[in-house]
Amino acid sequence: MTTRVIKNIGELTTNDPTVGTGATGRLHDAAMVIDDAHVLWVGPNAQAPAADEMIDAQESAVIPGFVDSHTHLVFAGERSGEFEARMSGTPYDGGGISNTVASTRAASSDELRRSTEKRLRELRGGGATTVEIKSGYALNVEGESRLIDIANEFSDEVTFLGAHVVPEEYARDREGYVDLVRGSMLATCAPKSKWADVFCDQGAFDVDESRAILTAAKSAGLQLRVHGNQLGTTGGVALAVAMDAASVDHCTFLSDDDVDQLCASQTVATLLPGADFSTRADYSSARRLRDRGAIVALATDCNPGTSYVTSMPFVLAIAVRDMRMDFDDALWSATRGGAAALRRDDVGHLGVGARADVVILDAPRAVHLAYRPGTSIVRRVIVAEGNWSSASWSSRAHGTIDDA
Ligand code: NIG
Ligand code: FE
Repeated sequence: MTTRVIKNIGELTTNDPTVGTGATGRLHDAAMVIDDAHVLWVGPNAQAPAADEMIDAQESAVIPGFVDSHTHLVFAGERSGEFEARMSGTPYDGGGISNTVASTRAASSDELRRSTEKRLRELRGGGATTVEIKSGYALNVEGESRLIDIANEFSDEVTFLGAHVVPEEYARDREGYVDLVRGSMLATCAPKSKWADVFCDQGAFDVDESRAILTAAKSAGLQLRVHGNQLGTTGGVALAVAMDAASVDHCTFLSDDDVDQLCASQTVATLLPGADFSTRADYSSARRLRDRGAIVALATDCNPGTSYVTSMPFVLAIAVRDMRMDFDDALWSATRGGAAALRRDDVGHLGVGARADVVILDAPRAVHLAYRPGTSIVRRVIVAEGNWSSASWSSRAHGTIDDA
């Protein structure tokens, strides 16, 4: 294993309060030592130990790699026409999902693999080093299984989302589709997934249908996450909390009771500013959640319908500007909060023993990520060995990207 010392860090965010100041565990004039997999040492620059190699951060800010805990990266086609219609007033209702289902079913596996890898490279260029990937654009047994296989080539955080919407061929037999998802589709996909997700909202699945699918998924050994309260106060949050889901995502519409329930639980409220942006929704109330003590994560929700976003810095900028989050809170939510949403404690921070996923910025302070929107200030992304899934992508994915 090669050891590397990163010296002359102007501002280091560790997210480890035992290492530095506040929840962000911040240090100034700092250094850190990593090997190919882990953080070995963090401390004052003047005390930095020697290592095999030296990286000079040139007084720039350094942060943990972003943990993007919610993406739908495996799909074909695009839906820019829907985006244009929304900008002229057409509301989002999930109806366009069927277009992506049609193009994804028709695409070859190589085509899907190539476009997934391209989007993943974009994400990583913006500093994301852990990325969850959902299925959900095939909605039949063979197709969902194929999307899960492709997702597994790129990530260890793979989510089965057979319950995205009821596909057209089951429009007159919703119950039949719910039975398919919790029956043979789940049996095929569960062994190669870590998570199950359900879109519990208007136009998708109601609370009873969602509960039935999540219950079956839990029995099949999957951990749970929920798309909830994107289009209304539809009960998704309460269901997610009751079922101890790791995360409930969107949370655009929240009742006081939803907020109370989230605060009394370990279920993370994952906010998706890109989706609110691209559907012209009111921004989720991050402030209300944070002030009352809920755990908040921020993610891209990259998908062709509501959020064709592959930039965590863009997500941060909106969270700060339009969701009124303090920058440090937003940065924590995009790193350690994302890790909490994936029930991981080895990523999202740079304490000793954490995975060596490190982002060096071309800026003296991390707040430049929100202060300079639209400009890439990610200078270098270091990805720990083994942090991406086992297939060929892994060997190509590990290492350092300069001037990402
Ligand atoms: O997270 N809302 C449900 N699923 C996706 C959008 C899917 C689509 O429109 O293609 C989301 O926003
Ligand atoms: Fe989503």
